[in-house]
Amino acid sequence: MSDPDATIECTVTIAGTGSYVPEKVLSNADLEGMVDTSDEWITSRTGIRERRIAADGQSTSDLATEAGKRAMADAGIEPGEIDLIIVATISPDAFFPATACYVQKNLGATNAMCFDVSAACSGFLYAMQISRHFINTGNRKTALVIGAEKLSSMVDWEDRNTCVLFGDGAGAAVLRRDDNGGAGRKILSSSLGSDGRQTDILHVPGGGSACPITPDNADQKLNTIRMQGREVYKYAVNAMRRAVEDALQQAGLGASDVDMLIPHQANKRIIEAITERMGIPPEKTFINLDRYGNTSAAAVAIALDEANKTGSIKAGDHVVLVAFGAGLTWASTLVQW
Ligand code: COA
Repeated sequence: MSDPDATIECTVTIAGTGSYVPEKVLSNADLEGMVDTSDEWITSRTGIRERRIAADGQSTSDLATEAGKRAMADAGIEPGEIDLIIVATISPDAFFPATACYVQKNLGATNAMCFDVSAACSGFLYAMQISRHFINTGNRKTALVIGAEKLSSMVDWEDRNTCVLFGDGAGAAVLRRDDNGGAGRKILSSSLGSDGRQTDILHVPGGGSACPITPDNADQKLNTIRMQGREVYKYAVNAMRRAVEDALQQAGLGASDVDMLIPHQANKRIIEAITERMGIPPEKTFINLDRYGNTSAAAVAIALDEANKTGSIKAGDHVVLVAFGAGLTWASTLVQW
């Protein structure tokens, strides 16, 4: 499949990365005291051991701002150089204005246009591709792309099916036009998709215009995450695998060319099912979900930053980012680091 989102020759690079997770750790042992679950069940079914929880008063934009600052420092740029800020999130500070506008205010990035993207766990990669278009057309030069979530604010802490899975955090990347060539960290290809027929298997049913929260339904917790875990699992494996293969194919590469796969951090078993089928070995797969759980739009962004800062990815490596989430949505991005 060719890249339907491709515009002109790619000159977009990842100039810097950053991430931030809140200090408070919620372990599986802590959850044992909250719902009928066990460390053994959570670890064996998901690989998650602990997750981070935002402090009272700490909002998604606060997490996003900190990650954004760290990405800017890594890229060596000043707030005034940023002309586009996109925040991918499903847990925005408010319905409006966009969380990206709060981040703009916090950073003093007064030259940026700002908006949010809602594509759930695929959101960071959707936002990267949107930024790539803005940059490729010459419209913008320097984008701050952030995935940030405070999922603890939308989890039903009495539902063991979901509350053990999610966490809070933010990751960010600075995308820039490379006018000189040869700077490395180039985005080579991307594959994005959605299947709106599957909206009901992973969603928050209430709190929006279709089902406002009223005094009559307030006790039903309709503004919390609902999920059909097994259905999501099956779909995730197939969609992410196809997305990785598509991005590689566009660049004339195959699975054996992958130096590091950075997948969405939802479930270790989902990741293993994909990599085993594709023949990608564990040492070429980046996993940090044991420490953070599923942070939705932030997950791939945090993992990319950790892979970058720990030297897990080196200059010239073919790095594939892939995600999957509610919508359903999926996305992959191939980068030559
Ligand atoms: N602790 C203990 N038991 C639990 C539990 C928990 N936290 N959550 C569910 N269970 C129970 C279920 O009630 C069920 O009990 P029953 O057999 O008596 O009905 C049993 O464990 C098995 O549940 P099942 O749903 O079959 O488990 P699973 O092997 O499919 O694993 C998930 C459940 C959620 C871990 C798995 O389906 C999954 O990861 N799905 C994808 C979720 C995801 O990635 N979502 C985000 C996408 S971006």
